[in-house]
Amino acid sequence: MTDPSPAPAPTDRREFVKCASCAIGGAIGLLPMAAGVYVAIDPIRQGGGPSSVGDGFLRLAMLEDLPVGGAPVKFSIVSDKADKWSRYSQVPIGAVYLQQTKPGEVVAFNTVCPHLGCFVDYRASQKDFFCPCHNSNFNLSGALLSGVSPRGMDTLEVAVRNGREVWVKFQTFKANQAEKIPANS
Ligand code: FES
Repeated sequence: MTDPSPAPAPTDRREFVKCASCAIGGAIGLLPMAAGVYVAIDPIRQGGGPSSVGDGFLRLAMLEDLPVGGAPVKFSIVSDKADKWSRYSQVPIGAVYLQQTKPGEVVAFNTVCPHLGCFVDYRASQKDFFCPCHNSNFNLSGALLSGVSPRGMDTLEVAVRNGREVWVKFQTFKANQAEKIPANS
């Protein structure tokens, strides 16, 4: 489907290139951060890739991986990808922050900034989320505290199954719009 929005102005193009660069850099940067990041390649140490049941949900963690009331934990999402020319096996396609706010209650945020797509950091010293591209920051509930983002961080659907398995429906959303609209709609 054709995107009806006008072509970006030169400034917007520069912003896009900058954010695309940081997104790529961020994706590469995720790899060496193994100490602080759980990767969904083998989410609950049972072998194989991310578990999926075909309803769009991925099994990313167990409740015991997430401290109750503690800091958000970042999980990379990896998946097979294909384009016209190539197939790629188990490449990073995004990441989520998970927080167990109360026993058995988990919230999930896409780590991509709703403004122009940079990756949002968790700042332990401030106990907030911060996007370094244009200085937007968000509280731990994902609400915008300050900055240019048109909306708060994008929440994702979470299901706790079989008592302790944390499943997340990973989605991306259109950037720089006040409403949260799935990217593929
Ligand atoms: S990309 Fe602009 S504030 Fe995050």
